[in-house]
Amino acid sequence: SGLPSILKKSLSKVGVPNEILEFLFGLYPKIPEAKGSIKAIRSEAFFIPLYELYITYGGIFRLNFGPKSFLIVSDPAIAKHILKDNAKAYSKGILAEILDFVMGKGLIPADGEIWRVRRRAIVPALHLKFVAAMIGLFGQATDRLCKKLDAAASDGEDVEMESLFSRLTLDVIGKAVFNYDFDSLSNDTGIIEAVYTVLREAEDRSVSPIPVWDIPIWKDISPRQRKVTAALKLVNDTLNNLIAICKRMVDEEELQFHEEYMNEQDPSILHFLLASGDDVSSKQLRDDLMTMLIAGHETSAAVLTWTFYLLSKEPSVVSKLQEEVDSVLGDRFPTIEDMKKLKYTTRVINESLRLYPQPPVLIRRSLENDVLGEYPIKRGEDIFISVWNLHRSPTLWEGADKFEPERWPLDGPNPNETNQNFKYLPFGGGPRKCIGDMFASYETIVALAMLVRRFNFQMAIGAPPVVMTTGATIHTTQGLNMTVTHRIKPPIVPSLQMSTLEADPSMSIS
Ligand code: HEM
Repeated sequence: SGLPSILKKSLSKVGVPNEILEFLFGLYPKIPEAKGSIKAIRSEAFFIPLYELYITYGGIFRLNFGPKSFLIVSDPAIAKHILKDNAKAYSKGILAEILDFVMGKGLIPADGEIWRVRRRAIVPALHLKFVAAMIGLFGQATDRLCKKLDAAASDGEDVEMESLFSRLTLDVIGKAVFNYDFDSLSNDTGIIEAVYTVLREAEDRSVSPIPVWDIPIWKDISPRQRKVTAALKLVNDTLNNLIAICKRMVDEEELQFHEEYMNEQDPSILHFLLASGDDVSSKQLRDDLMTMLIAGHETSAAVLTWTFYLLSKEPSVVSKLQEEVDSVLGDRFPTIEDMKKLKYTTRVINESLRLYPQPPVLIRRSLENDVLGEYPIKRGEDIFISVWNLHRSPTLWEGADKFEPERWPLDGPNPNETNQNFKYLPFGGGPRKCIGDMFASYETIVALAMLVRRFNFQMAIGAPPVVMTTGATIHTTQGLNMTVTHRIKPPIVPSLQMSTLEADPSMSIS
């Protein structure tokens, strides 16, 4: 910068071609540097000011925080290069440092050989038969939520949906990953509180600029850190206990291990891993279980929260949803076959994931020198890929900020990073892509379908405005307060004969 760049710009203005300028100055183009204050970034969900800067500086720019510097990427081709084409040249960087206390070398933060080995061991556990079995679990858990909402609807009490969704997805993931019934929709046990303490800590650390938790004495004297340490111990002890129980089950069972192996009594991922003879230290196994517990919990909860927020503003979408759900499901529990048929419901989730991606940014660090777009970069650069910016770019999308499930044709392919050329990354892309994408899609589809078929949801009167804040996922600042009412349904139009339909008390017209 400075004089040469002013000179170069002036020459460019008078018409000297770029190639000649590059030759004359012997310089590569320099990544634009954003000028902005740190304060602006700290005061609100940090991806919002990054969006403003993207509009000003474009698909890649540098952001300086005192001595630290980050590259912010909002360009599909550069995102594809980092996540997929040259993925081996990037690590999880800061993310691994922040999450070390809770996930250790679990699949999300791990890099290199450990990641490769663990990914290869865990991915097969999420086979189709497992996911199909999980549909039943999603239905049961959502049914428990429905029962809770029944009471609220009858009593005319408002409900805070964000925390209910968090409990729903905690119940689901505990059972799916290590066959543990948190039953957090009905209970408040010490273990549930401990899980939330650990989660909140992970989120606070990821948005805190000063790592106070790393100061040795702090860990012992800060009441908060002592609480975190105790919570972590309780969760770890519980996991160790579940691993031991599962080991005994595996030792006693006759079932031969095979590709689509699944124990009907305990279809969990943990059971699959132990039965596969996964040769791994108990610390590594615990790190992986903890990683999946966290990865599969708040993400799905956030998707449901923002879906219901979006729906509250778009009654016409709700009507179309209810029409589809009524005709596909009637009053049955959903099955795996229904997943293909609930096309519009799927589009609503696709669109919700576009507007509220979880997490809103992906974090990487360059392990070697590389070239991003036209810009050479050095090893050791910390990079944020803003999925939020990609998903809301006014140049990449028509009506980018509009909630419009119709933008995805019903008979078209399910949108993913590949068929959208990395402008749509709901589950990341490349070798580090989410392993729970199908699981999470079906989980949110089942929950959405079962809830809208039974209830109408509206923003509660007098509720605080819904404002975003960031942890690892996008949260609301004061919850999603809604009024739930029982749907007054027209008589079910049977797809079978009338006489085969039996009255289901749970579907009564209220
Ligand atoms: C990775 C999103 C549910 C397990 C990821 C990534 C994204 C993502 C964007 C890529 C992170 C990166 O590249 O830095 C989501 C969303 C979910 C969801 C939006 C819910 C709607 C789940 C579930 C599980 C899970 C249910 C558990 C089975 C993982 C794991 C990784 C991952 C283990 C790391 C994979 C690796 O690094 O090899 N997820 N996820 N996720 N997700 Fe999910």
